[in-house]
Amino acid sequence: MNVLLIGSGGRESALAWKISQSQYLTKLFVAPGNPGIANFATNLDIKVSDFDGIIKAIKDNQIDLVVVGPEVPLIDGITDRIIAEKDIKIPLVIGPKKDGAQLEGSKDFAKQFMVRHNIPTAKYKTFNADTYNDAVEFLKTLKAPYVLKADGPAAGKGVIIENNFDIACKELKEMFDGKFGKSSAEVVIEEFLSGIELSVFVLTDGRGGYVILPEAKDYKRIGENDEGLNTGGMGSVSPVPFADKEFMQKVEDKIIRPTIHGLLVDNIEYKGFIFFGLINVEGEPYVIEYNVRMGDPETESVMMRIDSDLLELMRSAAAGTLAGKDIKIKPETAATVVLVSGGYPGDYKKGLEISGCDKVTDAQVFHAGTKIKDNKLVTDGGRVIAVTALGNDINSALATALEDANKITFDGVYHRRDIGKDLLKYVKK
Ligand code: AMP
Ligand code: GLY
Repeated sequence: MNVLLIGSGGRESALAWKISQSQYLTKLFVAPGNPGIANFATNLDIKVSDFDGIIKAIKDNQIDLVVVGPEVPLIDGITDRIIAEKDIKIPLVIGPKKDGAQLEGSKDFAKQFMVRHNIPTAKYKTFNADTYNDAVEFLKTLKAPYVLKADGPAAGKGVIIENNFDIACKELKEMFDGKFGKSSAEVVIEEFLSGIELSVFVLTDGRGGYVILPEAKDYKRIGENDEGLNTGGMGSVSPVPFADKEFMQKVEDKIIRPTIHGLLVDNIEYKGFIFFGLINVEGEPYVIEYNVRMGDPETESVMMRIDSDLLELMRSAAAGTLAGKDIKIKPETAATVVLVSGGYPGDYKKGLEISGCDKVTDAQVFHAGTKIKDNKLVTDGGRVIAVTALGNDINSALATALEDANKITFDGVYHRRDIGKDLLKYVKK
C-alpha cells in the first residue's frame, strides 16, 4: 500500500517509524514531515491546511490509505473532502469526518454526547454572553477550583482552572469577550474532578469494531514534580501502573464500549483513533476530554510498545473490518523524554544547531521541531526532539532515555529528568 501521513510533529514521527516497518507498505509519504521523518519516509512539502495540495498528492502518488495526524484538519473536514473527491481513486482514511471530529472540536458537543450515552464525566453546563448571569449562578453551586472551558478548539489553551470565585467570574467574562476568539463564545463550566490522569487510545472502524492501544501518561508541566507552566508535553510513559486489569476493564465497560456504541446510535461513522483523556477518581474512570487523534508525546511511547503490524490494523479500521482483530503489545515499559528549547513555553530561539543524534545507541529519536538549514540540523520549535526507550520497568526505560537524550545537544536545551517517577508508588511488587 502507498500511505500518506499528514502532520509534522513527534506524534507523526512515531507513526511514520511504526508504519515504515509494515510488511504491507509499498511507499510512505508524509506531508509535510520533518528531517527525522525523512529517515522513514518521503516528505512532501504540503501544509496540513492545504487540502488542494493533499488531494493532488493523493492522486500523484496513488495513495491507498491516508492517516491524519493532527486534529485541526479533521475538524476542518479533510476526511469529508477526500471522500467527496470525484477525480481520484478514493483512498481509505484514518481520521473521522467533521461530525465525529466534533468530539474534539466542541466541548459542548462532547459533553452532550457523554450525557446522552451515560458515559462518566464531570457535571457541567454550557453558557454564552447572553446567559452570563445564569453562569455566575451555576458557578455558585460548584466548589472551587472552577473549571472553565472554551467550547471550540484553542490549541490546548482553552481551559482555565481558577480557585478564586471573583477571578473565575472575570475570566468567564473575558472568555465571552473573545479571549479565545470565537472558540470561547460558548463556555462549558464543569465540576472539578480530583484524581490522576491517563490517556487511553482506541482504533475503531466505524462499525463497532475496535482495538485498545497501550495506555500512557503524559507530563505537561515544564518543571520537575509537575511544577511551572503548561507545555505541549515534556514526556510520557506506558504502561501506567495504576491502570491495572480491573481499572482497564472499567474503562472498557463504562467508557470505551458506550462511546463506540454511542457513535453508531448517533449515526456517526468514525474510522480512526479516539483518545480518551481520563481521570482516575478513587478507582473510577471519568472522561475529561475526547481527542480525535493520537496524543503527543504519548504516541512516541505507545508506538514503541505495539508488536502488531499497525498498518494492517489501520487498513482494517478504515475498511470497517477490525472486528475480531487482536493487537499485540510488548510487556516492556516505554519512557519518552522531550528535549525543548531554552525559554519554552515562553519565548525561545529557533535555528540553533543540533548535534549528537548520531551518538544515540539504545533509544529511538523522534524529531518534533527541527529543520535543515544550510545542510545542518537546527531547532525549529519549542519541543525539538523526543527520545524514547524501552526497559523492564519505569526506572530502566527512563535511565536509557535520559542517557541517550543527554547525548543530543543544542544551545539552551532542557528536559525533565523525572518522567514517570510519580508512578513508582503504584507499581505492584
Ligand atoms: P482539557 O483541554 O479538557 O484536557 O483540559 C486541560 C486540562 O485541564 C486537563 O488535562 C486536566 O488536567 C484539567 N481539567 C480539565 N477538566 C477538568 C476537570 N473537570 N477536573 C479537573 N481537572 C480538569
Ligand atoms: N498529550 C496530550 C495531547 O496530545 O493532547
